Amino acid sequence: MERPLGASGRLVVISNRVPLPAKDGNSSAGGLAVALEAALKQHGGLWFGWSGRTVDQVENAPQIIEAGKITFAVLDVHRKDFDLFYTGFANRALWPICHYRLDLLQVDRSQTEGYFRVNRTFAEALAPLLGPDDTIWIHDYHFIPLAAELRRLGCRNRIGFFLHIPWPPSDIASALPAYGRLQNGFTAYDLVGFHTKQDADNFRQCLLRENLGFPVGDGEYQVGGHRFRIGAFPVGIDADAFAETARAAERNPTVRRMRESMEKRRLIIGVDRLDYSKGIKERIESYSCFIRSNPQFRNKVVYLQVTPKSRSDVPEYKRMQHQIAEQAGWANGNLGEVDWTPIRYINKTIGHMALAGLYRMARVGLVTPLRDGMNLVAKEFVAAQDENDPGVLILSRFAGAMHELDAALLVNPYDTETTAAAIARALEMPLEERRERWRTMMDRLRGNGIDDWCQGFLDVLTSGKSPVPPPQEG
Ligand code: G6P
Repeated sequence: MERPLGASGRLVVISNRVPLPAKDGNSSAGGLAVALEAALKQHGGLWFGWSGRTVDQVENAPQIIEAGKITFAVLDVHRKDFDLFYTGFANRALWPICHYRLDLLQVDRSQTEGYFRVNRTFAEALAPLLGPDDTIWIHDYHFIPLAAELRRLGCRNRIGFFLHIPWPPSDIASALPAYGRLQNGFTAYDLVGFHTKQDADNFRQCLLRENLGFPVGDGEYQVGGHRFRIGAFPVGIDADAFAETARAAERNPTVRRMRESMEKRRLIIGVDRLDYSKGIKERIESYSCFIRSNPQFRNKVVYLQVTPKSRSDVPEYKRMQHQIAEQAGWANGNLGEVDWTPIRYINKTIGHMALAGLYRMARVGLVTPLRDGMNLVAKEFVAAQDENDPGVLILSRFAGAMHELDAALLVNPYDTETTAAAIARALEMPLEERRERWRTMMDRLRGNGIDDWCQGFLDVLTSGKSPVPPPQEG
């Protein structure tokens, strides 16, 4: 379907990470990047962001890579600025605050300034590449002030922003000393999107509490002479394509090796970046509690936790790497047998195909973040299941995905004993109930695919229509 972007306009996507085409032409991009690429291809488009390199001498002009109908433009960042912008403010102030972790908030004036400076540098590099009819879509917490910087440079284009992580209530958000500046930055957009109504409501409450303008009608907000929209756009996946990948993955060598190593035990799986928001520590505690209180499952299950390391230069993440490795070691030491390792904890990235196959093999998917914007692992786990004998999803009530996937076993991940009981219940769940729950969830996934998300956001951004509330939240 053609979207009504500006007459001669392109779509311009901006994100910190840019899925540059591989030299061999193969792309390793995930579902979300694939959907954005498809939208870019439809109109001819530009994808702008960080090159992935830090340097000591910065070139002001971005590097341009042409790939068919998409132009990629990427910028190197000075090593010191990157430490302040990414390792500092974005991931030691914004990330913990947005995940309700006031205890981990690091307040550092030079990091804050570095964040705003890098945003200004990106705006200055992007502005000359823009045409007057381009529609601009900025992604995630790294670039909240980017629209305000572009406006300062005279950009009058339609600009949308989507936050891929949660937005907290105003009492938490306002603990950030740069809060007022960020809020002002948001008001330079034409549309600000979140995954859930709860996040959008939190954001509205923040604007009201700061006396920043007032709501005018459905989803619209007026600040000074500028009106913008706020909406919830829950991101989805291409459920049928993922199901197909999972079916095909039965022959995948990693999946085969895993199956052979199981020796008829049942698989419980968790897949997360190594991040404190994912609740991995609490999950290992719950699993250990499950084994202790359900001795009939000793040596009958294997819990595979796939956890690629992430943001290792951020001290909170580095500390966590040690803590979780130690905890998994303790659990195996205390619970294991000569012929049974209760937890297989690995810090490798596993390819898309093999993961799909592992989800399909698993009887239980443990997706128990302490706070998460959406969580696509939950959705992919459901899509990967064999409809005749589906596994059970155990899902945190603090993940955005729970609004659509409420037919999962919903748990409070802080409550070790109840989560442990949910694992036992999932393993003992009769086939009919598993099928029923799976069907309900799969229908929801089919009703809100990744293209719906992309088109839904762009329709509201370009047409000025009011955002439709996501169906699951009324
Ligand atoms: C989250 C964020 C993304 C980010 C990803 C990986 O999903 O919403 O913007 O790219 O984590 O984190 P990293 O810091 O490695 O980019």
